[in-house]
Amino acid sequence: MYEPEEDSYLIEKHIKNYPSDSCLEIGTGTGILALEASNYCKKVLAVDIDKEAIDYCKKNIKRKNIKFKLSDLFSNVKGKFDLIIFNPPYLPNDQLVKDKALDGGKKGYELIERFLNQVNSHLNKNGKILLIFSSLTNKKKINSLIKKNNLKFKELEKQKFFFEELYLYIIYK
Ligand SMILES: C[S@@+](CC[C@H](N)C(=O)[O-])C[C@H]1O[C@@H](n2cnc3c(N)ncnc32)[C@H](O)[C@@H]1O
Repeated sequence: MYEPEEDSYLIEKHIKNYPSDSCLEIGTGTGILALEASNYCKKVLAVDIDKEAIDYCKKNIKRKNIKFKLSDLFSNVKGKFDLIIFNPPYLPNDQLVKDKALDGGKKGYELIERFLNQVNSHLNKNGKILLIFSSLTNKKKINSLIKKNNLKFKELEKQKFFFEELYLYIIYK
């Protein structure tokens, strides 16, 4: 299970700026971002493909306004949301380090591509998406995938770390 890292904390500090009625977090891990969102969103649904993560969250996070569910992206998600948060696996596939919390696909952006292709139908009209990725993910490709799906974006923050730069985007219709 993914222990919160710089990317988690970078998104976490922005969540308070997007109070809303409904929030979806994809890939919740230890639930750190869902927990923060539950302070500002009336209802939070948090999903992960990893059963261990969902079991951990159900056991350790007891907030009436958060629900945890097993789901591959939106496969087990119904409805639309005001805020969607995703700290995805965004690194290019490494044959030696097989880790579904890090592995974004062969080129690093494949899971984000699947996410962007599906997210529109789960986003309310004035909804917002918080998405983070790295300089190792292929920023140009992410920008073009956002546009291809008729979405717009702004870079909220950029942070340099040891071997990469992290980009936090706000994406909207
Ligand atoms: C980088 S971790 C982020 C964890 C946590 N949100 C945080 O910020 O600390 C990515 C998470 O996405 C989950 N994940 C990977 N592929 C997924 C998929 N197809 N659908 C849902 N969750 C997925 C992983 O299990 C992992 O918990």
